[in-house]
Amino acid sequence: MRLSMIVIFIFCVYVKARSVNSKNGVPKTPFDEKNKDHWRLQAQWTLRAKLSKPQNKNIAKNVILFLGDGMSITTLAATRVYLGRKYGLTGEEVKLSFESFPHTGLAKTYCVDHNVADSACSGTAYLSGVKANSQTVGLSAAVKRGDCEGQRNAAHSVTGLTDWAQKAGKATGIVTTTRVTHATPASAYAHSADRRWEADADLPKQGLRCDDIATQLVRGRVGSHIDVVFGGGRKNFLPKSEKDIKGQLGYRRDNKNLIREWLLTKESLGYKPTYIRNRKELYNLDVDRYNSVLGLFSHDHMPYHLEADDDDPTLSEMTQKAIEILSRNKNGYFLFVEGGRIDTAHHETKARKALDETAEFAKAVETALKLVNTEDTLVIVTSDHSHTMTYSGYSERGSDILGLVNNNKVNASDDLPYTTLSYANGPGYKPHQSFRRHNLMLDDMNSLNYTYPSLVPIPRETHGGEDVAVFAIGPWSHIFSGNYEQNYIPHAIAYAACIGSGLTMCEL
Ligand SMILES: *[C@@H]1O[C@H](CO)[C@@H](O)[C@H](O)[C@H]1NC(C)=O
Ligand SMILES: [Zn+2]
Repeated sequence: MRLSMIVIFIFCVYVKARSVNSKNGVPKTPFDEKNKDHWRLQAQWTLRAKLSKPQNKNIAKNVILFLGDGMSITTLAATRVYLGRKYGLTGEEVKLSFESFPHTGLAKTYCVDHNVADSACSGTAYLSGVKANSQTVGLSAAVKRGDCEGQRNAAHSVTGLTDWAQKAGKATGIVTTTRVTHATPASAYAHSADRRWEADADLPKQGLRCDDIATQLVRGRVGSHIDVVFGGGRKNFLPKSEKDIKGQLGYRRDNKNLIREWLLTKESLGYKPTYIRNRKELYNLDVDRYNSVLGLFSHDHMPYHLEADDDDPTLSEMTQKAIEILSRNKNGYFLFVEGGRIDTAHHETKARKALDETAEFAKAVETALKLVNTEDTLVIVTSDHSHTMTYSGYSERGSDILGLVNNNKVNASDDLPYTTLSYANGPGYKPHQSFRRHNLMLDDMNSLNYTYPSLVPIPRETHGGEDVAVFAIGPWSHIFSGNYEQNYIPHAIAYAACIGSGLTMCEL
């Protein structure tokens, strides 16, 4: 321990001595990378830090699972440069908050029926421990998409971390930047044969007697016991005749105001509930007075961070408040936090927004780490599936990650420039002009809505099929190393936290 502290101290002094500030806007690395001692010292420091860390075999009283939706490994590498350049550095050498976690693994993401996962089958895997069919939430693969009968058959329902944590007397919470009924958060509490059944108006007309996802959040056995729910999607909780705080009409056909019902249900269950609608109300929330909070901060998904205004809380702000509320429970808590708009930005091939959302997600993880003690809190950061974005070319260190390869000095075989980030498919396809590739020099890549080039024209870029990274810190974080199926994750969490019906550390 003492040795590692000395090494860290020496390293810090070294970094300080070597620091070069960025001159004339040209990014610089903070180190003298031409000096071999830089690399030796940096590697030795990493080695000593690893050797000095004993395995943490405490019980995980609290668990926070962070999920970057569509946050591929390529997205992480590109976001480092995006962030680093903001600090006047080259960027490649920067670490996102969770990239310094002591243990990492790779999770295989395919669904039972499809080779590339969607957020629903994947959510079912990493929250409930069972792989499922594409587009289905909280159900085994015995249920196909749209099979309402299958949804109603209790034999096909799968329970997961939220339920297990509640049974162990822990507080539970969900934080997301999407609608709280969207596939990813829904996987934490709902069972739905189709992820699109977010409100009753989404169900097919022929009178299917299947509960929509919003209804399950308010009335479901697990949903009704969640202590904190923060995100977007007010429309799915309001009747189509009723306006929300911003004057936008609800979407429900059954005339139910589920927000009011949520408050009444919570009161009847003995909670002290409240409902909040914007950043100010979140900021002013008295966590001594309320132990159960529904925060619906937008009509639909919450806006991208680059387009948000003062009314919109950031993911970090929501995460902080959620932890403040949940940590009052003496038995601990399970919190699920989704950075949901990385994925939607990638689907639009708007790489700038995707990287910015990833940076915001990394900030939320950093916020959480400041509030918890990793001696008794397990923090996992992962993703549900990849995307088709690639990071290519041989540009100079510190080049604009959102710009052209080699600053447009060396062109492709067709003598036209190409971008460092591009997609295999999606709406960024640029039609050829008289058999020549579109000249990207004509485009405004500084626009936050610029659609990065894709090879194949389709309206929504698709997910990718390769593995996603898993980063872990805290009790039993070492059991998240290696390469495994995605549905292993909640089993390992349950082991560390002594919840669920499988093997736990408490039985040993
Ligand atoms: C980007 O697109 C969004 C949604 O399509 C739009 O609301 C916004 O005004 C656009 N922003 C810019 C700077 O073009
Ligand atoms: Zn997606």
